[in-house]
This record gives sequence, C-alpha cells and structure tokens, in this order.
Amino acid sequence: MLKPLYTLLLGCMFMLPITTNAMNIKDYHKDVMISENSQADCTTCHGDLKRKSIPDAAVCANCHGSPQDVAKLTKRPEGAGHSVEPNPHDSLHYGTDLPCTYCHQEHKESKVYCNQCHEFTYPKMKR
Ligand code: HEC
Ligand code: HEC
Ligand code: HEC
Ligand code: HEC
Repeated sequence: MLKPLYTLLLGCMFMLPITTNAMNIKDYHKDVMISENSQADCTTCHGDLKRKSIPDAAVCANCHGSPQDVAKLTKRPEGAGHSVEPNPHDSLHYGTDLPCTYCHQEHKESKVYCNQCHEFTYPKMKR
C-alpha cells in the first residue's frame, strides 16, 4: 500500500524543479531571451527575484519603448472611426495605462482584455 504513494511523492519532488525552470516563452522572444544553455533567461523579465511576479510595463519598456511609443505603432488612420478596431494601446477608457500583461501573456496564450466586454478582432496580434 505504501510503496506506490512513496514513488508518487518522490516523482513529485523531482518534477518540481523541472517544471519551474522550463517555463515556455513566446517564439518572438526566443531570439533575444534564450541564453547559451538554450534555457530562457528568466532575469530579463523577472530580474533577480527568487519568487517571480508579473513584470510591470517598465520591464517591457526597456526594449519596446514607453507605452506612448507602443501606441504609435498601432495608431489608427485619422477619421477611420468605427470602420476599424480601436487602438488597443490607447483606448477610450484607459488611455495608455493598461498593463501590457493584461493582454500579452508570456507563458500562456495571449488574450485581448477588451473582449471581456467587446468583440474586437485583432488578427495581427500574436497569441
Ligand atoms: C530584452 C528585450 C525585450 C524585452 C524585455 C521584452 N521584449 Fe517583447 N520583443 C523583443 C523583440 C526583439 C521582439 C521581436 C521583434 C519585434 O517584433 O519587435 C519582441 C516582440 C514582442 C511582441 C510581438 C510583436 C509583434 O510583432 O507582434 C510582443 C507582443 C512583445 N514583444 C511584448 C512584450 C511584453 C509585453 C514585454 C514585457 C513583459 C516584452 N515584450 C519584453 C524584445 C523584448
Ligand atoms: C488591451 C490589450 C493590449 C495591451 C494592454 C497591450 N497590447 Fe500590445 N497589442 C495588442 C493587440 C490587439 C495588438 C495587435 C494590434 C493590431 O492589430 O493593430 C498588439 C500589438 C503589439 C505589438 C506589435 C505592434 C506592431 O504592429 O508593430 C507590440 C510590440 C506590443 N503590442 C507591445 C505591447 C506593450 C509593450 C504593451 C504595454 C505597454 C502592450 N503591448 C499592451 C493588445 C494589447
Ligand atoms: C519575456 C519576458 C519573460 C521571460 C523571459 C520570463 N517570464 Fe515569467 N512571466 C512573464 C509574464 C509577462 C508573466 C505574467 C503571466 C504570463 O504572462 O504568463 C510571467 C509570469 C511568471 C510566473 C507567475 C508569476 C505570478 O505571480 O503569476 C512565474 C512563476 C514565471 N513567470 C517564471 C518564469 C521563469 C522560471 C522564467 C525563465 C525560464 C521566466 N518566467 C521567463 C514574462 C517573462
Ligand atoms: C468592463 C467592460 C469593458 C472593457 C474591459 C472595455 N470596454 Fe470599451 N466600452 C464598455 C462599455 C460599457 C462601453 C459603452 C457602451 C457603448 O457605447 O457601446 C464601451 C465603449 C467603448 C468604445 C466606444 C464605443 C464605440 O463602439 O465606439 C470604444 C472605442 C471602446 N469601448 C474601446 C475599448 C477598448 C479598446 C478596450 C480595451 C483596451 C475596452 N473598450 C475595454 C465596456 C468595456
């Protein structure tokens, strides 16, 4: 009776470090964030924190520029109105203040936060 349980526990103890080190990152980040040992470099986004927390926009800004810079990349044509989806990076409700990670996830599929309430389609967004 005890033996299978013991094996299971032992299995878990070995699984734990493996699963935490093997966090997947997005393909678009692999070029800049995979180090020589072919592991994702966690510190690029999480710093030296032992306990990882959700990175804030300042981390993304190191490479992508300010939220205002990002908003310029997805600026909509003047007077396009309702014929195009609104700029996700500079919205009516939140301006440029929405944390990047509300939409761009790193270790799981990205989602458009706006679509909790709207039905916008952003085919160019990399999930
Ligand atoms: C070390 C630099 C670096 C950091 C830090 C970084 N990125 Fe990137 N990111 C890149 C590079 C390089 C690319 C690929 C080239 C490009 O598309 O700009 C990229 C691509 C992306 C893309 C895909 C762009 C596209 O073409 O659709 C998104 C989305 C993105 N990053 C979001 C983020 C978010 C959110 C953060 C913060 C959690 C972040 N990045 C942190 C360097 C970085
Ligand atoms: C409300 C959801 C949302 C938030 C918050 C958000 N993004 Fe995006 N992002 C998108 C969508 C949707 C696209 C695709 C835009 C399009 O289709 O025009 C995109 C595209 C991008 C791109 C590619 C732009 C291009 O066309 O070259 C980058 C880079 C990017 N986001 C980075 C960021 C960073 C950095 C932040 C935080 C400052 C951020 N995003 C916050 C939804 C979001
Ligand atoms: C490109 C930036 C980036 C890199 C590199 C990265 N992470 Fe993350 N990490 C994030 C983002 C963004 C989140 C927020 C949740 C999500 O997007 O999946 C996160 C969330 C986490 C969380 C959950 C934190 C919480 O409080 O919910 C853990 C644990 C974590 N990362 C571990 C790692 C490990 C381990 C590595 C190295 C193998 C790593 N990350 C590399 C961006 C990154
Ligand atoms: C919590 C729900 C919620 C979220 C999340 C949300 N919205 Fe809205 N939004 C609303 C409501 C409610 C209205 C007002 C109803 C109306 O006039 O259609 C509205 C109206 C709008 C309008 C003006 C109406 C129109 O169709 O022109 C735009 C543009 C808009 N939202 C964009 C966004 C964008 C972009 C995001 C994500 C960055 C977002 N919203 C996130 C609830 C939300």
